[in-house]
Amino acid sequence: MEKTFAIVKPDAVQSKNAGKILARMEAEGFRIVALKKHSITKAEASGFYAEHKEKGFFSALVAYMTSGPVLVLVLERDNAIAHWRSVMGATDPAKADAGTIRKEFGASIERNAVHGSANPADAAREVVYFFPASELL
Ligand code: RTP
Ligand code: MG
Repeated sequence: MEKTFAIVKPDAVQSKNAGKILARMEAEGFRIVALKKHSITKAEASGFYAEHKEKGFFSALVAYMTSGPVLVLVLERDNAIAHWRSVMGATDPAKADAGTIRKEFGASIERNAVHGSANPADAAREVVYFFPASELL
């Protein structure tokens, strides 16, 4: 079994699509290991997306991710990281395959409904970024 880290982003929470996204997670066979509603601070968003700090969209990304509460989750199943990325779909909802979460719920390349860890090293870093071990159940 593998764990991945996911975010239901501010646009999806605000538009009341969070419940449908959680149902999809369970339908895809993920076990919810941890889940909380959270307001990401500017410092947290900047650290979380540090790999993008030189990109032109970085300040807009930090503003967006701190624009409203999110759900942060740890999900578990076999092949969790790759499977969740495939269920999310492409970063740009306009380019995402039919049936993916970003196609269904994403509004734009920035306001794209969900996050998922890209690889095992990122998953390990991202889980501990938001959850102490005592909250992984
Ligand atoms: P994520 O990290 O959120 O799971 O998304 P990702 O791997 O598919 O995309 P990534 O390249 O890591 O970008 C992180 C987030 O930054 C926003 N973004 N905006 N305006 C733009 O061109 C642009 N490009 C990326 C998106 O919210 C993207 O998910
Ligand atoms: Mg990414």
